[in-house]
Amino acid sequence: MSEARVKVGVLISGRGSNMKALIEAAGAADYPAQIVAVVCNKPGAEGLNIASDLGVFAVAIDHGLFAEREGHERAMDAVLRDAGVQVIAMAGFMRVLTPWFIEAWAGRMINIHPSLLPLYPGLNTHARAIDAGDAEAGCTVHEVTLGVDEGPVLGQARVPVLAGDDAASLAARVLEAEHALYPAALAAFCERFRQ
Ligand code: GRF
Repeated sequence: MSEARVKVGVLISGRGSNMKALIEAAGAADYPAQIVAVVCNKPGAEGLNIASDLGVFAVAIDHGLFAEREGHERAMDAVLRDAGVQVIAMAGFMRVLTPWFIEAWAGRMINIHPSLLPLYPGLNTHARAIDAGDAEAGCTVHEVTLGVDEGPVLGQARVPVLAGDDAASLAARVLEAEHALYPAALAAFCERFRQ
């Protein structure tokens, strides 16, 4: 029996290294999802070129062109639905979403966050982990719900905080863990939607 692969849209704002990890993982024939669209709120972002080079439909929708947050989201929503997207993976999308968008995609949207949630929601996670003297740091894939960085946890990966780490060196170690965790967590999540 061949099961349909789940169509995934990825939201990015910049570099797109997690998006790239997802696209590459989805290149495997037995991966349960395919990346059908990448949407970025910043024209010219590096991730857009990476997606296009990998043969994935990628579009910039500049949030600066919209008077209201929801208008921007409605434009993103239209592109995602046109592409047949069933599941959204946020990957470094640096905009807080409105309840309208979150409710429209409830139960079908996930995010990766560079901390061991519930520790350090929000920004500057690596510096906060170092300042707190934590022995380990990591990343979390979670469902997106109304509270920022609060949804049910789907998976975590841990890395040590080493003596002499600064935010940049810790971020690099966590990012490597993100690139392994996110494809695995997305695959597991998409199994819920396979028919
Ligand atoms: C990652 O650290 C991710 O966890 C956070 O933003 C960063 C995005 O990096 N949400 P990239 O664009 O995937 O390279």
